[in-house]
Amino acid sequence: MSKPLEGIKIIDFTHVQAGPACTQLLAWFGADVIKVERPGSGDVTRNQLRDVPDADALYFTMLNSNKRSLTLDTKTPQGKEVLEKLIKESDVMVENFGPGALDRMGFSWARIQELNPGMIMASVKGFSEGHHYEDLKVYENVAQCAGGAASTTGFWDGPPTVSAAALGDSNTGMHLAIGILTALMSRQKSGKGQKVAVSMQDAVLNLCRVKLRDQQRLDKLGFLKEYPQYPHGKFTDVVPRGGNAGGGGQPGWVLKCKGWETDPNAYIYFTVQDHAWPPICKALGKEEWIEDPAYNTPDARQDKIFDIFATIEEWLKDKTKFEAVDYLRKFDIPCAPVLSMKEIAEDKSLRDSGSIVEVDHPKRGKYLTVGSPIKFSDLKPEIKASPLLGEHTDEVLAQLGYTKEQIAEMHAAKAV
Ligand code: COA
Repeated sequence: MSKPLEGIKIIDFTHVQAGPACTQLLAWFGADVIKVERPGSGDVTRNQLRDVPDADALYFTMLNSNKRSLTLDTKTPQGKEVLEKLIKESDVMVENFGPGALDRMGFSWARIQELNPGMIMASVKGFSEGHHYEDLKVYENVAQCAGGAASTTGFWDGPPTVSAAALGDSNTGMHLAIGILTALMSRQKSGKGQKVAVSMQDAVLNLCRVKLRDQQRLDKLGFLKEYPQYPHGKFTDVVPRGGNAGGGGQPGWVLKCKGWETDPNAYIYFTVQDHAWPPICKALGKEEWIEDPAYNTPDARQDKIFDIFATIEEWLKDKTKFEAVDYLRKFDIPCAPVLSMKEIAEDKSLRDSGSIVEVDHPKRGKYLTVGSPIKFSDLKPEIKASPLLGEHTDEVLAQLGYTKEQIAEMHAAKAV
């Protein structure tokens, strides 16, 4: 069966995580993604945090599956010539270099349009064009701090905290993929390419919109009812860190289960959904709370929500997180065990759905990677190993029309 993006050729001029996550997704869906890497070294993540000597690090293999690798020194005349040919033949070019790097290399947006007016040029930068920080180089945690995630994450008596989830990197890559697909649709109508840009700050902010909501509510009201600071604590004029509180109108918290003293993940997340109050009381054996006016509305519960959580923890004392969830699910209570990465790696449902996939790599053997989180009725992406450095150099050059002799010359000149 042909894949949806088959026939779309992408120059993958990306490195580290934000750009590679975007192009990997497009490769899963059938695009021909040619990763352009510096000869000899390649993407820095090939070497970062290695666990097997002489084999590409998982950091690289988990972000570059289903791609081809072309080594090319784009600062040499031959390298520039090859890149020009590739640009003329491709549909999309994706890059996430530091600000100005592509211009310095001689491939400004104006030049790329000259070479191929249909080209979609997609970029990730730390900050958007014209922003007062546009010159900054940015990594994940910098973006989380600049996008509002860090100031609103963690506990009120601790420092701003970054999330383990790659809100700045992979999340920005996913935003960029949406932008590229939109530009491809637009090109079908207009025949014209365009520039697509996503800044890591904006992509983080897009996921922090509820905190911008809260800032405006705080400005008006002076308090935020769903935060643990209400009603006993103090509010200032900025959205506080809310610990593990639920972000919407339903209070929730991470609660201890049997074994929490020794197992750092023996917890569940428990949500006190308003209309589930009677089932919650029944599940906990606290039927007397169902009609009690001191408990039977969200407002009545708010000032004693932590006492309620303490009662639930008392009930959880002799139950593992899995036993607790298996019982609570019968009452339709929104909850889940806090899963460790080890538990996730071994989860049969995630393997069955293709969300976690085992891949065979020629140098490192079998490893686990994350498969497509997007499920289609007519497409099951096959996740293949990432390419070795320069594995497809000769193949790509031959496809561009270079002869064996010319390719050998480029190797000798270290241009590829
Ligand atoms: N051939 C020749 N030169 C190459 C090359 C190739 N195939 N590939 C890259 N280079 C050069 C670039 O032209 C650039 O050279 P220059 O600075 O002399 O002009 C250099 O290698 C790479 O620059 P840069 O991207 O700035 O690398 P860095 O390691 O200093 O910075 C980042 C890394 C991630 C901080 C930076 O790329 C960045 O801020 N990117 C945008 C935001 C982003 O994506 N962050 C990371 C998210 S995971």
